[in-house]
Amino acid sequence: MNLAIIGTGYVGLTTGTCFAEVGHKVICVDNNEAKVQSLREGKMPIYEPDLEEMIVSNVSAGRLEFTTDLAAAVRECEIVFIAVPTPPHEDGSVDLSYIEGVSREIAESLTPDMGYRILVDKSTVPVSTGSKVHQVIDRYAPAGVDIDVVSNPEFLREGSAVYDLLNPDRIVIGADSQRAMDMMKRVYQPFNAPIVEVDLASAELIKHAANSFLALKISYINAVSAVCEKAGADVELVAMGIGMDKRISRHFLNAGLGYGGSCFPKDVKGFINVAEQLGAPMEILKEVERVNEAQIERFLGRIRKKMWVLRKKRIAVWGIAFKQNTDDVRESVAVKLIKRLCEEGAHVTAYDPKAAETGAAALSGYDVTICDDMYECVRDAEVLVVATEWKQFAMANLVKVRELMRLPILFDGRNIIHGENALHAGFEYHSVGRRTLRPTKS
Ligand code: UDX
Ligand code: UDX
Repeated sequence: MNLAIIGTGYVGLTTGTCFAEVGHKVICVDNNEAKVQSLREGKMPIYEPDLEEMIVSNVSAGRLEFTTDLAAAVRECEIVFIAVPTPPHEDGSVDLSYIEGVSREIAESLTPDMGYRILVDKSTVPVSTGSKVHQVIDRYAPAGVDIDVVSNPEFLREGSAVYDLLNPDRIVIGADSQRAMDMMKRVYQPFNAPIVEVDLASAELIKHAANSFLALKISYINAVSAVCEKAGADVELVAMGIGMDKRISRHFLNAGLGYGGSCFPKDVKGFINVAEQLGAPMEILKEVERVNEAQIERFLGRIRKKMWVLRKKRIAVWGIAFKQNTDDVRESVAVKLIKRLCEEGAHVTAYDPKAAETGAAALSGYDVTICDDMYECVRDAEVLVVATEWKQFAMANLVKVRELMRLPILFDGRNIIHGENALHAGFEYHSVGRRTLRPTKS
């Protein structure tokens, strides 16, 4: 099938590429000319495992192309996906101006002789956005165009986006017409995954409700981690024990510094806002946010207590990205932590395998040195903080790290270091929701 994707960000680019990979002919559209030009030259705007190879092979197979010409893509493609940003406003409500703008542009590109078109929303949007998009089409498209609006939310995680797209647990399609539903099912036929066929509004709600529930799971285990710290229990064992109950599951029960990224913070806010607007407030999600904020504060408090004064302390931070396997630093808890440490006068060095460049931009104006080697980063440091769950931090040579550091103090904000190994290397090992391990002589 001929598919157009508007917006070649994390979601649009990976989605378009995976559609091409399963055999569709895909045109990716973006209004950022420089981005389109560099994609045409084979340069990647983001880091995402396996994406580059897949783009290169699909472009050379003639199944994937990049353009800024939205109208031409709409002319050629029977299905047009929208994957432009939906950032939060100050008050938590969702900024739908990009969605509205693109919908209007699509409407103005439609002509009655084109035949049937489906407009699919992939971005996370508040419930009832689909019907507003339909209104825009009715207002701005010439009379006689034949179009349906569909919601098809995406559940990919950055860092494993290609895998998630090709191996989804389920595909949610929200359509109010059988014709649109049948065509959408053809798009997803090669994916071999269960399809959840629902109405437009329910599909929109599924996305907000799913992301908020995952955030709630993380805040739940983080709240439990605070109790564990007081009670001398181990949150990892608690997570294992409750996670083996299939009704709960172990996924998304990793205690740490809290959730970040471009989705959870914004989607929880967005869902709180839309529920309030509808007169059915979700107070429970306000607590989810509160726990998320408290988690980083508690951790900072523990570093402060250990070091007494942070001013002029040399603190090394491993991790800048909001999670592992990505260069994305949007709403990164690691970035927040580094900023807080700098504000308190600490000398911070930071390392991230992929987010050095994006991190430098996010931290501009802060007195932080970004290193290109994880061991160089810890040289003469008095504390090492692990802020992102990259695998290579878990595999680090801790004896070498200990030798390079001035003091043997390790704060693991993601519980990924093996505590006993840290202890054997001579570290005092602090983590989240677990007892601190101290070498016997200290
Ligand atoms: C997406 C969704 O839009 C968001 O709702 C969802 O919750 C997460 O994923 P993402 O792919 O991460 O966002 O956004 P981003 O990486 O910022 O990319 C958006 C792209 O759209 C950019 O390349 C931008 O240039 C492009 N864009 C934006 C357009 O082509 N037209 C516009 O009008 C606005
Ligand atoms: C999320 C959803 O998982 C995905 O389905 C949705 O479509 C987009 O939003 P993403 O934000 O890319 O994906 O990454 P995710 O793996 O969900 O991690 C989000 C944040 O939660 C990260 O900061 C991560 O460190 C944190 N996290 C995740 C935890 O703190 N504990 C966990 O157990 C899992």
